[in-house]
Amino acid sequence: IKKEYGIKPLTDVKLIRIKWGKKMITKFNHVAIAVTDLKSASDLYQNILGAQVSDICNYPNHGVSVVFVKLSNTKIELIQPFGKNSPIENFIQKNQNGGIHHICLEVKDIYKTRDKLLKNGVRILGDKEPKVGAHDKPVLFLHPKDFNGTLIELEQE
Ligand code: CO
Repeated sequence: IKKEYGIKPLTDVKLIRIKWGKKMITKFNHVAIAVTDLKSASDLYQNILGAQVSDICNYPNHGVSVVFVKLSNTKIELIQPFGKNSPIENFIQKNQNGGIHHICLEVKDIYKTRDKLLKNGVRILGDKEPKVGAHDKPVLFLHPKDFNGTLIELEQE
C-alpha cells in the first residue's frame, strides 16, 4: 500500500547523525492561515477558542490583511487577500475553505542563509533578495516543492 502512494519506507533510509552545531533555523515565528472572511476567522479564534486577537491590520504593500492571534509561545497569523494582485489570491482560489499557507522560521543571518541554500540547490521565490516583511524584518520564501510541499518564510531574528 505504501508503494502505491510513493512513500519511501524508512527502512531504506540510512541513519544520519544529527549535527546540532550546524543549525541555521533557530525559532518558530508563526504559522499563517489564509482565510476568506477575516472578521469571522478572528471571531472564531477569539470567541470559540478564547484567544487574544489583534485588530485587523491592512498591509497594502504586501497585499494582505492580517489578524494576529497571540499565544504565549508563538503566534498565528490569519491572512486575507487585500486589494488586487494579492500574493495569496491563487491559494484562496485553490483552497476555498482557507488553509495553512506558510510557516515562518527565524534565522540569524538571512544573507548567509540565502547563499547556503542556493548552493544546495534550494529555490528561493522572487528575485532571491530579502524583502522587508510584515514585522519590519527581512524575509525570504523557499519553494514549497523543495520542502515537502510546505511554503517556508525565513525571517531574520
Ligand atoms: Co508570514
